[in-house]
Amino acid sequence: MSGRRFHIRTYGCQMNVHDSDKLANLLYHGGFESASEADGADVLMINTCSIRDKAENQLYSDLGALREWKSGLPGRVIGVGGCVAQQVGDSLLKRFPHLDFVFGTHNLRLVPSMLEAAQRGERRSETGETRSLERFDLPLPHPGIRGEEQGRAFLTVMEGCDMFCAFCIVPQTRGREISRPAKGIIEEARRLAEHGVREVTLLGQTVNAYGRHAERRGHSEQAGTLPFAELLSELNAVPGLERIRYTSPHPLFFDQALIQAHASLEHLCPHVHIPLQSGSDAVLEKMRRRYTRDEFLGITEGLKAAVPDIALTTDVIVGFPGEKEKDFLETLDLVQAVGFVDSYSFKYSSRPGTTAAEFAEAVEGPEAQRRLEALQEVQRSLTLAHHRACIGRRVQILVHGESRRGRGQLCGRDAHHRLVNLAPDAAGAAPRARPGEIHEVEIVEATPHSLIGSLVPGEASAGIA
Ligand code: 5AD
Ligand code: SF4
Repeated sequence: MSGRRFHIRTYGCQMNVHDSDKLANLLYHGGFESASEADGADVLMINTCSIRDKAENQLYSDLGALREWKSGLPGRVIGVGGCVAQQVGDSLLKRFPHLDFVFGTHNLRLVPSMLEAAQRGERRSETGETRSLERFDLPLPHPGIRGEEQGRAFLTVMEGCDMFCAFCIVPQTRGREISRPAKGIIEEARRLAEHGVREVTLLGQTVNAYGRHAERRGHSEQAGTLPFAELLSELNAVPGLERIRYTSPHPLFFDQALIQAHASLEHLCPHVHIPLQSGSDAVLEKMRRRYTRDEFLGITEGLKAAVPDIALTTDVIVGFPGEKEKDFLETLDLVQAVGFVDSYSFKYSSRPGTTAAEFAEAVEGPEAQRRLEALQEVQRSLTLAHHRACIGRRVQILVHGESRRGRGQLCGRDAHHRLVNLAPDAAGAAPRARPGEIHEVEIVEATPHSLIGSLVPGEASAGIA
């Protein structure tokens, strides 16, 4: 069927990955089918990220290279969405004459019609921001893509960000904070569980700020929101849901109720990704993070008291303007004191339009690189020590699919979010497990990035319906 196959290239965070899923679903409902490679597609969409300059530059190099793809077959169409699209809008159409349409982060629903228009030769850009809750009500997963969920799914609970950290472009690309009514979230969770989803990850730019504006104004009833910990408790009761995760929380919104939820809710996973950014009070203040290192430590201590073997992971930025060696050493110290299981570390990247873009005292590139490597070295040994401590333990893994090692080898994650590759059995055969199933495995080996486990014989705990 000519003109009806799409391919989406996705960069950036889980929110973008989920937006691409939503977009694919809309297109399936519109009669399109997906192509696993750009070469098999008539429509190519790029879902962009602008969190750091590297991610943004990726778009420009992709678009340059796609001139040839477009001229490879008549009628091919290219669309750009996501955070770069939201920010720069139709100037992309001017700069790249072979680009057909641009859609912002609030305009996924318009894509099917923009695409049809593009196939008639119209070039459109839609980047308007909306406060409408309609954006959360998307069609049910189309049967054509349902099988790809493999036991886990994202679930949007809030979007946007009102925190305006000095370094961050997200409040500009994702707009104002808006929370989805709890009823729709719980219904979606039930529906997912009925379709074999065992694990949901609640998504929001500051996910644990869920409902806070309505609550502060005494409007939570009209808005249909609940305190975040209560939302988790409702989801904990959804039949068939074995695992609940959430990302990314902001330290400021870790109240006692949320910490206690970790102690009391059976299905809430013993893993929290809690972005630190810096371990120096001076830097945290300049970053406008609104917590101190002691407050951060108080939260992680509280979580460890609630769930003693909780796995904590984080994000750290090095080389923020004005960061001195002393500040950096405080970050290293805090990373070690908390004992993060893993961290994503980044060199500060100046984003035009953010407050920090105007700050003096830039840290030189080679110095930022040195700090990054020193931090990553510390993290590597923390991660390896955590992984080694797992050897001999039995854990439940949700099987995701083939591991990066290939050769039919499967992998999955345990409740602590550790990546576990399944070892072949004694006879060298691939273990008998299917994506979407939960299996018990014994950890037999540890590497810096993952664990190796062997399947404990026994029934899988239910599979995809
Ligand atoms: N430069 C470097 N890293 C950044 N992040 C956000 N903005 C920037 C920036 N300007 C990092 C933060 C955030 C993660 C998603 O990306 O650590 O938590
Ligand atoms: Fe960016 Fe800060 Fe909002 Fe996170 S909380 S999305 S770092 S502005």
